Amino acid sequence: MQRKKISKKIPWWQTQVGTAEYTLIKEVLDSNYINEGEVTKKFEKKIAALVGCKHAIAVTSGTAAIFLSLKALNIRPGDEVIVPDMTFIATANAAELCGAKPVLVDINPIDLNIDINSLAKAITDKTKAIIPVHVTGRAADMKTIREIANKKNLAVVEDATEALMSKYKGKYLGAWGDAGCFSFSPNKTITTGQGGIIVTNSDELEIKLRALKDQGRPTRGTGGNDIHNTIGYNFKMTNIQAALGLGQLRYLTARVKRMRRNYKLYTAQLKNIPGLSIFPCDLAGGAVPQWTDIATDERDALEQYLRARNIDSRKYWFPLHTQPPYFLPSGQFPNSEKMSLRSLWLPSAFTLTDEDVAAVCREIKNYFGR
Ligand SMILES: Cc1ncc(COP(=O)(O)O)c(C=O)c1O
Repeated sequence: MQRKKISKKIPWWQTQVGTAEYTLIKEVLDSNYINEGEVTKKFEKKIAALVGCKHAIAVTSGTAAIFLSLKALNIRPGDEVIVPDMTFIATANAAELCGAKPVLVDINPIDLNIDINSLAKAITDKTKAIIPVHVTGRAADMKTIREIANKKNLAVVEDATEALMSKYKGKYLGAWGDAGCFSFSPNKTITTGQGGIIVTNSDELEIKLRALKDQGRPTRGTGGNDIHNTIGYNFKMTNIQAALGLGQLRYLTARVKRMRRNYKLYTAQLKNIPGLSIFPCDLAGGAVPQWTDIATDERDALEQYLRARNIDSRKYWFPLHTQPPYFLPSGQFPNSEKMSLRSLWLPSAFTLTDEDVAAVCREIKNYFGR
């Protein structure tokens, strides 16, 4: 049988903007109120309702969301914040930006999330917070993490930047921690260009976060005779960005459905390939795979093979302890060292068709000689 030729490029991810966004952004431009305002509020309310939290506070990025959450939880110089060794560097940077020390801990090789035993061992008298990362939308063990945090009186800031609408034990990720942080950068399910949001059920935290994101002002006044109770920042999300986000939300259900379907098709078509495994995703429990990921010892060769056939994939992050700002000698994080080099994100865009996924699977099978 002749192999079907793949002519178009199959992207790892694809951002998509529809007509709704053009209309909503035009309305903002026509209103001449392009700063943060009522449209931002509307976007915040929608996100809070979607993930089942009392408050949502929109900011300029996922990084700003994590940083501000830590700040609002009083993380300061001298404190230690536990961060998994395999995540995007922003997670550790957020702690560093508070003057705190990010304490890296190993991941577990099954789901690439923070390893609970390593986490428990890393807690000291200086530990003040844990940042579990839900890698590619897959829940960290939030039940146990919450138990540990409650027992040791630690704050939990969820890095749910890759986990919008992903459910774990009947509750949306982001709603488990003291604060949950999402990203709306262009490779996420919905985008505002750049942007992020913090969700929380705490009224006290909400007030602090709103002041922190706007120069320490409890309420925005004229910019002249305002009272600034604390030091703050400018992490406001503009009405323009929020309009983009509101437009994107119209496609959220369809996108989530498609991403879950991509994962289902991959698992069905890539089963029983010696040397390749697909990382788990609890579809039945309501998890949403931000991207579908696999592990193979032949990761680099497979990535090249696919690239030569117009198929994009993305290699995993290097462990944080190998990055210059967080460098530590090798050997302390055996799982992240091993898995970082074996893990690959397959094409996972919500724009993919069944045929696209089938074409990717066909080429992967060809690679493994089936
Ligand atoms: C795990 C993780 N943490 C943090 C971030 C930072 O989010 P942002 O790029 O919106 O600042 C990202 C985003 O790409 C991420 O994947």
